[in-house]
Amino acid sequence: MRRFVIAGNWKMNKVLAQANALAQDVSAGVTALGEIDIVVCPPFVALAAVQAVLADSAVALGAQNMHWEAEGAYTGEVSPQMLRQLCSHVIIGHSERRGHFGETDEAVNRKVIAAIAHGLTPIVCVGETDAENRAGKTRDVIDRQTARALAGLPPQQAAAVILAYEPVWAIGTGRSAAPAQANATIGAVRDVIRRECGGATATATRILYGGSINPSVWPETIAQSEVDGGLVGGASLVAADFVALAEQTQEAATADSGDSAQVAG
Ligand code: 13P
Repeated sequence: MRRFVIAGNWKMNKVLAQANALAQDVSAGVTALGEIDIVVCPPFVALAAVQAVLADSAVALGAQNMHWEAEGAYTGEVSPQMLRQLCSHVIIGHSERRGHFGETDEAVNRKVIAAIAHGLTPIVCVGETDAENRAGKTRDVIDRQTARALAGLPPQQAAAVILAYEPVWAIGTGRSAAPAQANATIGAVRDVIRRECGGATATATRILYGGSINPSVWPETIAQSEVDGGLVGGASLVAADFVALAEQTQEAATADSGDSAQVAG
């Protein structure tokens, strides 16, 4: 049974006081949710302050990007050993980094390897653009991005990676992927992991959906068999929405374990 994850990607939003307030409200809202992993990913400059806010909370902290080197002459970059002192998770290869900042599959792979080496849990994003989707290339794109992101990782380390399928056409558009479609593509991501890293890793790896998640569409998506959680953008900026998504995720997790208990019993 894979432990579900709900993660908020705050992107380039919230100045310090707003970040602290949002973290405080999320933390206070999810105290009863012990069955899932809850992660918030503020901008770099808010990490230290939000770390203090979340000190006694079950909410984990993540960054939105990092360099692969531990230290050195890389002006403007932030390293895994810096992040390790602040947070437990790091988003890698978000489509906004790939699209706006030219991040390649090779850079994503280096970052994933470095994150694991420094004890950070990478949340690796894959997903096709609208044009690729229309051209029928979705499977090719997610196959390439997933295989290259995990290249060179021993299967046990690969199982520590969290994947997130985020179709670019669904991000910030209000057009969330249809639940069955999200499920099928996430199943295809899992097939790539099975081919590259073996069955045990494929079975253990959490794969999230991301793209215009909100509380009115999420219950149907998180109920899908392949979907192990969500990576949330816009709705994670509103504490009440993010808390509602976390509650829905926990409900789905509990319903799932109820099913397996029945099967086992
Ligand atoms: P939205 O939820 O705003 O569509 O963003 C999704 C996303 O990019 C999360 O990483």
